[in-house]
Amino acid sequence: MLLIKDKIKKFNKTIEVSGDKSLSIRWVLLASQASGKSKAFNLLMSEDVVAALNSIKKLGIKVKINKNNCEVFGNGINGFKYKKNITIDAGNSGTFGRLILGLLIKSPQKIKLIGDKSLSKRDFSRVTLPLEKFGAKFFYKKKNKLPLSILGSQYSNDIKYLENRGSAQCKSSVMLAAINSAGTTTIQARKSRDHTELLFKYLKIPIKIKKTKKYDFIKIKRPKKIKAFNYQVPGDISSSAFFIVLATLTNSSDLLIKNVNINPSRIGVITILKKMGAKITLKNQKNYKGEKISDIFIKSSSNLKAINCPPKLNSSAIDEFLIIFLVAAKAKGVSYFKDISELNQKESPRLNWGSKILNMMGIKTILTKDSIKIYGQPNLNITKSIMIRNYLKDHRIFMMSTIAALTFGGQWKIYDEDSINSSFPSFLKIINRIGNKNI
Ligand code: S3P
Repeated sequence: MLLIKDKIKKFNKTIEVSGDKSLSIRWVLLASQASGKSKAFNLLMSEDVVAALNSIKKLGIKVKINKNNCEVFGNGINGFKYKKNITIDAGNSGTFGRLILGLLIKSPQKIKLIGDKSLSKRDFSRVTLPLEKFGAKFFYKKKNKLPLSILGSQYSNDIKYLENRGSAQCKSSVMLAAINSAGTTTIQARKSRDHTELLFKYLKIPIKIKKTKKYDFIKIKRPKKIKAFNYQVPGDISSSAFFIVLATLTNSSDLLIKNVNINPSRIGVITILKKMGAKITLKNQKNYKGEKISDIFIKSSSNLKAINCPPKLNSSAIDEFLIIFLVAAKAKGVSYFKDISELNQKESPRLNWGSKILNMMGIKTILTKDSIKIYGQPNLNITKSIMIRNYLKDHRIFMMSTIAALTFGGQWKIYDEDSINSSFPSFLKIINRIGNKNI
C-alpha cells in the first residue's frame, strides 16, 4: 500500500520514461516471425512484455535477455513449434492476448489462452470474430471471455474486414493474421494507432494504405519472408502523460522528458492538454524507422480552462483520459468528454473509476455510459483521507491516484502498488527522483 500525505515540492528536472508498450509487444511478435536474430534495445521489461516473451518461448522461439538488450531468434513466418497442450498466459495484457491470436491462425493444435482476473473480464469476440474469417476456430468456456482455445486451419482465401471501433488491437490482430494468409487481406479501419502499419512498411511486408478522413483502407499480402531486425524502442507517451500532468499541476516547476515516441496517432493527450492551457513544447524532433521521436518540455500552468473534447481526438488519447480528467478537475469551467464508452473496456471500467475518484476528491461529475462532464475547481485543495482499492489492479488507476495525491493534497492510501508492473515498473522510482524523496 502506498501512503501519500504531502504534495510534491516544486521541481526542475530531466527524466526518461521506459520503452513504449505497444512497440515493445509488436517487436516481440514480429521478431518471432522474422528469420534469424533480432535485437531490441530499451525494450519495456514490464509484465505485459515478459508475458509476450514467455509465450513465444513456449511456441519454440529462443529468447535471450541480456543486460542492455533482448534477442529473439525468429523461426520464419508461421515458424512456431506447435506442440500438444500449450497454454499461453497473457497476464494483464489485452494487447498481447489479442495480437498473438492473429499469429496462431494456422496452428494445427489447439492452443489455450488464459489471462489474469482483469483480462478474463474483457471481450475477446472483437478479435475472434474477424479471425474466424481466416478459418480459425475458437472455443470459449464463458461467452467471449478468457480462457479460450484456438484451433487454426490451412484455409487461405481473400479476406475483408471492417474495423469500426477504432481499435488498434483488432486491426493489428488481423494484420498479423494477414502475413500468414495466402490470400489478400483488406481492412477498412477507423483511425487508431498505426505502429503495426509503420513496422510492416519498415519490414517491407507488402502493405498498401489509402487514408480517408474517417477510415484507413489497408491491403496486405503475405511476404516471402521477414528479415530479422534491430530496434531501439523509444519512450512511451502513455507513461510520459502522468509526468506531463504532474508538471502541469505543480506550481513553478518544469520538466524535460527525453526521447519519447510522438507518433501522431498517439499524441491526443498533448493536443487536448494544450487546448486546456498546458504549456508543452516538443524539442529535438527526429524520425526513427517510420516513427517520430521527440523530447517533451513542460512548464507548470496556473491558467487551465475546461474543454469540450472533440471525439475525433478520442482514439489518439485512449489510454490518457484518466490523467486528463485530473487536469479537468483543476480547470476553470465544465469539461465534457463524449463517445468514450471504450474506456469501460480497459483493464478496469475506467470511465466509471475516473468519475468515482474525482467524486472522492470532491469534484462533481455527470457520468453516462459513454460520456463524462467534469466540474473543475481551480482552487481545489484536498484535506480529507482517500482510499483507492479493489480497482482490478489497473495500472493507470494507480498512477492517476498517485499524481492526484501529489498535486491536490489529502491523505491517500493507494492499494496494490504492484499494479504498475504491467506497464511501468519504474514509475515510483521516477516520482522519487523528481520529488527528491521516498514515497
Ligand atoms: C493498444 C491499443 C489500445 C490501447 C492499448 C494498446 C495497442 O487498445 O488502449 O493500451 O497497442 O494496440 P484498443 O485497441 O482496444 O483501443
